[in-house]
Amino acid sequence: MAIAASTFLHPLHLITLPKSPYLSCKFQFRPQFYVSPARFRSSFTTRASSAVAVEPDIGIQQDQATEVDFFACPICYEPLIRKGPSGLNLSAIYRSGFKCKRCNKSYSSKDIYLDLTVTAGLRNYTEVSPARTELFRSPLVSFLYERGWRQNFAQSGFPGPDEEFKMAQEYFKPATGGLLVDVSCGSGLFSRKFAKAGTYSGVIALDFSENMLRQCYDFIKQDNTLSANNLALVRADVSRLPFSSGSVDAVHAGAALHCWPSPSNAIAEITRILRSGGVFVGTTFLRHTPSTPWIVRPLRERILQGYSYLTEEEIEDVCTSCGLTNYSSKVQRSFIMFSAQKP
Ligand SMILES: C[S@@+](CC[C@H](N)C(=O)[O-])C[C@H]1O[C@@H](n2cnc3c(N)ncnc32)[C@H](O)[C@@H]1O
Repeated sequence: MAIAASTFLHPLHLITLPKSPYLSCKFQFRPQFYVSPARFRSSFTTRASSAVAVEPDIGIQQDQATEVDFFACPICYEPLIRKGPSGLNLSAIYRSGFKCKRCNKSYSSKDIYLDLTVTAGLRNYTEVSPARTELFRSPLVSFLYERGWRQNFAQSGFPGPDEEFKMAQEYFKPATGGLLVDVSCGSGLFSRKFAKAGTYSGVIALDFSENMLRQCYDFIKQDNTLSANNLALVRADVSRLPFSSGSVDAVHAGAALHCWPSPSNAIAEITRILRSGGVFVGTTFLRHTPSTPWIVRPLRERILQGYSYLTEEEIEDVCTSCGLTNYSSKVQRSFIMFSAQKP
């Protein structure tokens, strides 16, 4: 009961709503973080870019370079060909076009994020995801998320963003200097912290919710201390991650597993994209813990039916069955932070 309340409800009367562009009008992208492509030379370009000749048919300026990118097609996982300024920053990605040579499908930025869902660009098809995914696509929930909603998680034992970030950074030590993907980043609470830490060559803030990504952009824009270099916003489904196998050093998924349509498919995908030695760190709400009175358990199971609240044993089971090793976890009431590594 406590989990359901603290996760999905919020005492609205306690919140004074600041003015938000998302609640009333269409979002407009105004690139503010332009950085010369020459300034961006990190592990991505050395690892993933090699100049290749491709047809200049992805609808962007002729004078721009064409190269193999670190993003991959969500349909076939072939690395995408990018035409436009290179680099992992909002402006360069916004001004680039991406194409899968195998599927012949093009991808581009919508508003401020790069849409790498399988359904990107479809006109006649709409897909409705499970309620726990749809809930976070709402502009209101996206707006409220860092304005009270997430703070409620403390009631279930979440230590709070600063402490959770510190704990995650400990687990991520083997991935220092690499590419981190913040899967189901929401409004970018942790993506911003990872980007600011300066311990990664790049941070990709990835979520399925368009409005969460818009909110994320807004927070980035407001924060003068946050350089948007090495930070990208991507829309994707955790069950279909747009990266080549073995191309990512670290995956973070804060308070997310219980929202995923299929935690096992998601963890299989995360395992696929991690390189050998790469680290996965996640947090979620547990269905119950050893201290949950046995009499309350059936009631909680019933209330939480339809959500992916797992037990600690189930989380470890899924991680190890996907081939991850060195599983470890920290539990505080219903909060769990777990970590596992790709062998
Ligand atoms: C509770 S929020 C977590 C936000 C943030 N990571 C945190 O720690 O506070 C859960 C997020 O999972 C995202 N999500 C739900 N289904 C998803 C899916 N299929 N693929 C990717 N993200 C998804 C939602 O859009 C939402 O932003």
